[in-house]
Amino acid sequence: MKAREHWSSGLGFVLAAAGSAIGLGNIWKFPYITGENGGGAFVLIYLICILVIGMPVMLCEITLGRHTQRNPVGAFRAVSPGSSVFAHLIGILVVLGGLIMLVFGSWGWGALLLVIGALIFRFGWTMAGAMGVMSGFVILSFYSVVAGWTIGYIWKALAGSLSFNTVSEAGAYFKVYSTNPWWGIGCHGLFMIMCIMIIYKGVRRGIERWSKILMPVLLLLLVVLIVRGLTLEGAVEGVRFYLTPDFSKIGARSVLIALGHAFFSLSLGMGAMITYGSYVSREENIFRSTLFICILDTAIAIMAGLAIFPAVFAFGFEPGTGPGLAFQVLPAVFHQIPAGSLWAALFFLLLLVAALTSGISLLEVVTAYFVDERRWSRHRAAMFFGFVIFLIGIPCSLSIHGWERVEWLHVPLVKVFQVSQASFFDFMDDLASNWMLPLGGLLISLFVGWIWGTKKAIEEIRHGSRNFADVHLVALLAGLRDDPSHNSPIHVLTLASLWGIFIRFISPVAVTIAFLFTVGWLKL
Ligand code: PFF
Repeated sequence: MKAREHWSSGLGFVLAAAGSAIGLGNIWKFPYITGENGGGAFVLIYLICILVIGMPVMLCEITLGRHTQRNPVGAFRAVSPGSSVFAHLIGILVVLGGLIMLVFGSWGWGALLLVIGALIFRFGWTMAGAMGVMSGFVILSFYSVVAGWTIGYIWKALAGSLSFNTVSEAGAYFKVYSTNPWWGIGCHGLFMIMCIMIIYKGVRRGIERWSKILMPVLLLLLVVLIVRGLTLEGAVEGVRFYLTPDFSKIGARSVLIALGHAFFSLSLGMGAMITYGSYVSREENIFRSTLFICILDTAIAIMAGLAIFPAVFAFGFEPGTGPGLAFQVLPAVFHQIPAGSLWAALFFLLLLVAALTSGISLLEVVTAYFVDERRWSRHRAAMFFGFVIFLIGIPCSLSIHGWERVEWLHVPLVKVFQVSQASFFDFMDDLASNWMLPLGGLLISLFVGWIWGTKKAIEEIRHGSRNFADVHLVALLAGLRDDPSHNSPIHVLTLASLWGIFIRFISPVAVTIAFLFTVGWLKL
């Protein structure tokens, strides 16, 4: 067997993982949900979610990955107990759920749950890893469509076609553009080719090398756009809107939105961090890396709003336009600025760079599984599954604004699964963001906290990070970690003990509540 490839340095790992985390979620989504949910107040809640839930779960994933040196399926399999009562119980519950569905006439879901329940009963926790690999297919197929639009918009901006005076003009253009199959599918294909080419080259020469090039480019583009935005007349109004805390807009809903977004934004719940963690060597300090990745991801998300809102306000546009902000409001805003085409092109390039480093991590999860577990060559796996994801993305692209052009898919999906989403694109997004990622995150923290066990996990984290488990938190914070008087062998409060409590109790409960809320089973 060939030795597993590893990142060439700690920095390489941090940049690659931050590249996975920083994506469309940060630059396209975070600013508008912050704008809608009370500005600074929402940012505060988001920070708490990252600290209390995001970071602990990320550390679970990276630890599991590094310990097992495997893809998500292999990782769960390697440390699963021979038989787990808990897993059997979940399997039985899922089968029962399936039977109930069958009784109520939902035979599509009923049959699916029966199969999944049986698989959980048979394969136990390994199925949590399998769900991660499936999420890779689902997310990348629609993510790549949006990423593809940015490629087209860079081109259009440079060609001077994004010259709109009003948002509705820009909106109408976007609709025509995104439904045009040549642009939609063509650019989606182009994006997939880029991802395949990077993954094809491997961990060091592909992912790490490109992350080291693209992440500084991303930061530079962002800073340039922020400076441009903030120096426009009337920009302060935008900063005020974006960051002034408005606690009256904060409710249970905003907290759950913040939590859900923290998961998506940090690339948690599908094993991307398990996979990247599996290329980390034993000497690295993975606690510190986790901290850096979370800080980078959050900082870039907050900065993205500063690149957008000041410009929007400077020209008197409405900010609260939701998801259309990037493709419908911003082109109209940029048109008002001198050399607007250039600024628009730079903004869409920023989106593309962010999307690319996330896209490769999604493809890497799928590739790593087939390389580790099915003995495929990396080249073959990257090309073949890149192509499969391209094919799944085609109906996503065709159905952005409705099902009309994919009725052949809609009819069976309604018959079998009673889908109610407005398009296949929405269906895939909903499936991944609201179901698979939260469930995956829940399972990962339960697994590490209760099944594999915090004790073994902490043994793993200790390699490279003594402070995590062996220094009293108070002494650590006070800068006294090497002072013998403050390092008695008996520690009650360490980073490790706090982390253990978070992943055993706080994360599972919070994620469960958020999950029940988003799928509509809990009303607040
Ligand atoms: N974190 C990415 C973003 O914020 O856009 C999205 C993502 C990438 C989610 C990779 C999950 C993943 F595994």
